[in-house]
Amino acid sequence: MLRKERGLSQKAVADTIVITRTAYNKYESGVIQPVRKLKELSDLFHVSADYILGRNGHNPLLDKLEIEAQIRKYLDLSEGGRNIVDITLDAVHKKEREEHMDELMNLMQRRRSIRRFTSEPISKEDLDAVVQAGLLAPSGRSLCPVEFIVVQDRILLDKLAHARVGAAKMLEGAAAAIVVIADKDKSDTIIEDSSIAMMNMLLMATELGLGSCWIQGRMREAENKEQTTEAYVRDVLGFPENYQLEAMVALGHPAQERPAYDLKDLHYEKVHPDTF
Ligand SMILES: Cc1cc2nc3c(=O)[nH]c(=O)nc-3n(C[C@H](O)[C@H](O)[C@H](O)COP(=O)(O)O)c2cc1C
Repeated sequence: MLRKERGLSQKAVADTIVITRTAYNKYESGVIQPVRKLKELSDLFHVSADYILGRNGHNPLLDKLEIEAQIRKYLDLSEGGRNIVDITLDAVHKKEREEHMDELMNLMQRRRSIRRFTSEPISKEDLDAVVQAGLLAPSGRSLCPVEFIVVQDRILLDKLAHARVGAAKMLEGAAAAIVVIADKDKSDTIIEDSSIAMMNMLLMATELGLGSCWIQGRMREAENKEQTTEAYVRDVLGFPENYQLEAMVALGHPAQERPAYDLKDLHYEKVHPDTF
């Protein structure tokens, strides 16, 4: 009776379970960190549907009210005239959007330069994900001039640690370096293109719980003071003259903790509404 009043049919409930489950599965397979709240929601609804349908030997009507109240509380929904199926579906979509925004902001807050690493190697899966993040970066006119040299060889990493006066020393302890170079003949936006790829990789490393640090390559001097950083790195890694070195990402499991940025401490004075 109550089910009818609320406009619930067994099919609607079953459909919602499928949709909710699909939404969660999509998240679980498509993003790095499962969306915890969506899972909770999905589980909750899954359980609630069993109750609504009268499985598990419960009184379906009584439990339904209880569980609906729980879902409403969980989703911060006040009482309304719409049935729980609509509410749940709307809420899933709303939560999806909120989770995405919170996660992205939180990720950017947590990204810090890490210069000390443990000796633990980086899994192939993680390293591939960081490289994919670099490859996902857009480029001017989509010319894709950026290329990546993924260095894991200990001898090469130790050599690269001398590519700068001090500033690349952390590579001695890093598990990998991704060297970002770009073809000068291909595009006139190689600095921008390379920088976006760098940033994508720093964020992905953070997402994976890896430590990372940008090491500037362009316009810098090698430790030997006889070569530019670019010439030194070219000698070590053998990339052609038409490729310009932008920077390197040092990567490894973090051996230091750095606090996340707090949104309230941002330099809001640097933001000018309409005119300077
Ligand atoms: C363009 C650029 C060049 C950088 N070059 C180096 C570098 O050569 N060596 C280094 O240790 N850190 C380098 N960094 C890291 C900065 O020092 C660091 O981002 C800054 O101090 C802010 O700290 P955070 O990354 O923890 O937010 C560089 C960062 C950027 C964006």
